[in-house]
Amino acid sequence: MTRALGLALVLLAGCGDPPEEGPSDEEIADEIWQDIQGWEGWTQIAPWDGLQPSSDCTHGPYVEITFNDLAADNYGSDDLPDGSIVVKRGHDADDGSAPRDFVTVMKKIEGYDADRNDWFWLRISDSGEASDTAIGQASFCYGCHAAGGSDYLLTTRDDPGEPGACEN
Ligand code: HEC
Repeated sequence: MTRALGLALVLLAGCGDPPEEGPSDEEIADEIWQDIQGWEGWTQIAPWDGLQPSSDCTHGPYVEITFNDLAADNYGSDDLPDGSIVVKRGHDADDGSAPRDFVTVMKKIEGYDADRNDWFWLRISDSGEASDTAIGQASFCYGCHAAGGSDYLLTTRDDPGEPGACEN
């Protein structure tokens, strides 16, 4: 075999496989749905423990926020580790007595979005139905969350607000 032919064969062989495709956002959302089962029992972090008045009302007048072990153990770090998850449920009514029927979630997935600290953003209903728009690299979510705090976590920037300060 000539050297040129050998090289050509090597190059051709290298072109055979299509590039590895990662899972789709919908598939990742399904995994996250499994991950967050039982999230109500995860760790809470003061002053955001229990049900607290939101600082800006975006997620409802009251918010309930829990952290899986990885996220709780590294809370305040500039780069939470792969697998960290934070879940938040907004609650309506003046006293927060009306929980919304969906949660919003941030999950750190190494390599998912290197420009924005690899967070996967998700809004998902209580029956496990992911939003069409608030999923994955959701600019609506990270646009606000990039504005301070450590590693996009706004609870590290803000204290809870005043009860009754949000219009319902
Ligand atoms: C306009 C600003 C804004 C937008 C848009 C927004 N958030 Fe938030 N989010 C906040 C604030 C402020 C907090 C801190 C708690 C509070 O004051 O309600 C927060 C808290 C959270 C938390 C708790 C963890 C933490 O410390 O930040 C999660 C999880 C979360 N948001 C997910 C999302 C997702 C997912 C989206 C997109 C669907 C989203 N957020 C869109 C303002 C925003």
